Amino acid sequence: MDTTKRFQHLEVDEFLTSLDFLPIGMSIVDTHLQLRYCNTAFIELLDFPENLIIPGMSMEALFRYNAQRGDYGPGDADEQVQSRMALSAKFEPHQFTRTRGDGRILQIIGRVMYDQAGQPIGFVSLYEDITKEKIYEQKLEKQHQELSLAYEDLKQTQLALLQAEKMATVGHLAAGIAHEINNPIGFVISGENALEGYLNDLLSLVAHYEQLETHYPEQSRQLMQSNKDQVELALIREDAPALLKEIRHGLTRVKEIVGQLKVFAFDQPNQTAAADLREVADRALAIAVHGFGQQISIHKDYAEIPLIQCSAGELAQVFLALFSNAGQAISGAGQISIRIAQQEQSVRCDISDTGSGIKTEHLAHIFDPFFTTKAVGSGTGMGLAVAYNSIKQQGGKIEVKSTPGLGSCFSIFLPLS
Ligand SMILES: Nc1ncnc2c1ncn2[C@@H]1O[C@H](COP(=O)(O)OP(=O)(O)OP(=O)(O)O)[C@@H](O)[C@H]1O
Ligand SMILES: [Mg+2]
Repeated sequence: MDTTKRFQHLEVDEFLTSLDFLPIGMSIVDTHLQLRYCNTAFIELLDFPENLIIPGMSMEALFRYNAQRGDYGPGDADEQVQSRMALSAKFEPHQFTRTRGDGRILQIIGRVMYDQAGQPIGFVSLYEDITKEKIYEQKLEKQHQELSLAYEDLKQTQLALLQAEKMATVGHLAAGIAHEINNPIGFVISGENALEGYLNDLLSLVAHYEQLETHYPEQSRQLMQSNKDQVELALIREDAPALLKEIRHGLTRVKEIVGQLKVFAFDQPNQTAAADLREVADRALAIAVHGFGQQISIHKDYAEIPLIQCSAGELAQVFLALFSNAGQAISGAGQISIRIAQQEQSVRCDISDTGSGIKTEHLAHIFDPFFTTKAVGSGTGMGLAVAYNSIKQQGGKIEVKSTPGLGSCFSIFLPLS
């Protein structure tokens, strides 16, 4: 590269003077690691006494001066000098920052100089005071961290709000349904009871009359028989009690479901009461089983546990989310196991399934709001997010272990007190 053209209107003196007005320090060192040139900013920024800097002096002397005044931090001065000499002798481009004893931060950039033949002839280094920039950068970094924290907080608050809203909606809906069904079902059940009594009375009355039939003339007996055949009395006798039994069974089931809905309806979020976790799990299970496939078997292993102070409504929601996920993870035959026991100062509940398992790369995200692997429209991805928050709000924790292809196990820990 022919640089002479660019210098043809500039005297060397002029050039060197201009370098002394630069706010950036500059030094040139030759291959013997001797200082060939430095400008004023170099001496000022590095805070060297004027009389120390003599052109031709060795870098070793400069390094030693720095090491002795503690510029390189604590440590053995000889070692600090030697390691810097070794680094310099490599003749490699370098760039680093150094915080000086007085707190100022310098950025040092060095580049190797080559002659026409491509042989290194030394290096030129620039020294810039970047203290202000660094302080600004640190301030920005701090502000960024504060913002991130505030954002995280906001996200958690939003999640909590969403959860509260979801719980309130479920609660409202459940309360409405429970209320609407509760009254008519009461009438139907008492009506069914009365009807059963009436029917029994009627059937025994008919039996009574039948006994008297023997005293009737033959013609009347035949007429009675044809009437009985017409209404299929034998069939009524046989079928009516079975029908009533089925109706009673159905009504009991509806009554049970209404009872279960009340769990969601009356326990408002954050309202706690002493509850038996096994009962809460059972209520949620009774609802969840309706969504399970035919070939899913349920295995329960409940130990004796103390009552815990909790929001049964929220926990039922958590169990429901876990049971639903377990059921959805099993295609065809499989098993869902629920184990509840006391573990130290907590009640532990494991819900495991023999389903698809969770891919390792998904494990870190399953509790994220809106994370779902289900088809669009079939999963909101809020089940576990809400569950996680609920458990956390109640002072507990939820963990998961999963082996893809074999199944998953979600463990809930809730504190006894
Ligand atoms: N027992 C499980 N087995 C396999 N994967 C599971 C299981 N539980 C959760 N997952 C995975 O975690 C994801 C998130 O679950 P989450 O309950 O939060 O949302 P979802 O079930 O997809 O949707 P939603 O519950 O709102 O209907 C699921 O999409 C699924 O990939
Ligand atoms: Mg789910």
